[in-house]
Amino acid sequence: CKLVILLSGSGSNLQAFIDASRDGLLPDVEICAVISNKAQAYGLERAKQAGIATVCIDHTQFASREAFDAELQVCIDSYHADLVVLAGFMRILTPRFVRHYLGRLINIHPSLLPKYPGLHTHQRALDAGDCEAGATVHFVTEELDGGPAIVQAKIPVFPGDDAAALATRVLSKEHTIYPLAARWFAEGRLVLQDSKAVFDEQVL
Ligand code: GRF
Repeated sequence: CKLVILLSGSGSNLQAFIDASRDGLLPDVEICAVISNKAQAYGLERAKQAGIATVCIDHTQFASREAFDAELQVCIDSYHADLVVLAGFMRILTPRFVRHYLGRLINIHPSLLPKYPGLHTHQRALDAGDCEAGATVHFVTEELDGGPAIVQAKIPVFPGDDAAALATRVLSKEHTIYPLAARWFAEGRLVLQDSKAVFDEQVL
């Protein structure tokens, strides 16, 4: 299963994929390329250090979102990606792009979706007085952070937690569930069917 990973920042989730591969936890997965819309993204450095091809496509050089996404698509498809993994890719994708990859495009979001789509998820969970927080891996559909959930990780909110503390604890859970979801996909156990994420425990 060929993966292309898209990111804009630190790339700690990418690192989790690299580490999982190295540890033999992603036997059917090959990370073909990492693409960033930001040249300074530290994730590109992590990819290079792991010997993975990197591409920067600077969105500010495009006249429209459509033009940027079209170029992104050409680049991804040049690697014959089976699965496109959004790992902190801070761009809203056009419906055309999302439709092209429907069923083979996944994202991780730092909340227990459907709670808190969008930004500032941890602060919003704190403001609401939630007693748990977490992260969700989901198939990407045209609705922002609205696609069907594949797997969630939950953590308790402790008294005295601030958004940064929550973010750190949630992120460490992301690093477990995201490679796991990709593993299931690569094993053919996970598909998007009738707008639902279907997990087949019987395969294997
Ligand atoms: C994570 O919080 C993830 O949930 C969100 O973007 C962040 C990416 O972090 N989609 P990193 O770049 O993988 O460290």
